[in-house]
Amino acid sequence: MTAGPEEIARAVARLRAGGLVAFPTETVYGLGADALDARAVARVFELKGRPALNPLIVHVADPAMARTVVGTWPARAETLARAFWPGPLTLVLPKADAVPDIVTGAGPTVGVRCPDHHITLSLLHALGKPLVGPSANPSGGLSPTTAEHVRASFSEEQVQVLDGGPCRAGIESTVLDLSSDPPRILRPGVVTAPQISRVLGCTIAGPGAIGSAGLPAPSPGLLGVHYAPRTPAVLLEPADWPAILSTAPRVAFLSHADRPVPPPHRLIRLPAEAGAYAARLYAALREADELGMDLLAIDRPPRGPENPELWDAILDRLTRATRPDAR
Ligand code: TXA
Ligand code: MG
Repeated sequence: MTAGPEEIARAVARLRAGGLVAFPTETVYGLGADALDARAVARVFELKGRPALNPLIVHVADPAMARTVVGTWPARAETLARAFWPGPLTLVLPKADAVPDIVTGAGPTVGVRCPDHHITLSLLHALGKPLVGPSANPSGGLSPTTAEHVRASFSEEQVQVLDGGPCRAGIESTVLDLSSDPPRILRPGVVTAPQISRVLGCTIAGPGAIGSAGLPAPSPGLLGVHYAPRTPAVLLEPADWPAILSTAPRVAFLSHADRPVPPPHRLIRLPAEAGAYAARLYAALREADELGMDLLAIDRPPRGPENPELWDAILDRLTRATRPDAR
């Protein structure tokens, strides 16, 4: 049952009292607290076990609310907000003094986005204040794409969960640093560099390779293993197929293709189209985890002509969720 007006009203009261509410978005569920209440935000860090230096995204109802949390709102921000909000694009800008340091990991910038989900937009309008919203999972784990996923990690006493059904997009927002020139993608997502470039009429810098030497770490949340299942996971190259079956007694395979997988190994099929694959990915990884196998082997998805940038964003998550040495 998706949340109605009464649950939204209860959520507003909880947030006003410094409590936590998980909210649905088009990407993943967020763990919400009043962004201007440093003690409430501290509870979010505590509950997630999140490193203090990893900044939180601030969710707003509209560009007018965004202006209250940023120090400057450049023309580029207005243009992007008009083109992509509500939607999966987070803009990193100099922060306003009103935003507590704990929100930004003591850094000078803040990430803002307007989520595309009617329940959360109603919540933001009713509260009249911005909400922090990291993904509603213990730090480092899989992002939740259903209300049940959130409830599996947190009790109702800790977090009120607003059920908005399964998330449509399924992977997290694109994070774009607008405080640098040219603007730079810090985390690839559903909104792609060519789309942003077309709207702004300028080039967009990419995130660089994961862990590449010499690059600063502008987005501390992107370090190390992340978005990870509990079971050791590897990314499979096509040539690995024959050998992998004998590396562990029980392997759960996740694949966009129909692979021959003899028992006791298991195959979990993923869609072959990028958007559908992204929407299904985290739920499939959770299902694979619940099988309690020895190893998860994820077939490297094809970077076909159809939406190659979304496949890149998916591969970014898969690379962080897996370890070359896991098997
Ligand atoms: O789709 C999403 O963005 C979801 C939904 C709930 O909105 N939220 C989300 O939040 O994924 P979180 O906290 O799990 O990831 C936020 C990412 C982290 O990698 C963090 O380091 C980066 O955004 N980030 C946030 N503020 C930043 C800033 N001021 N500068 C650089 N990176 C920032
Ligand atoms: Mg997260």
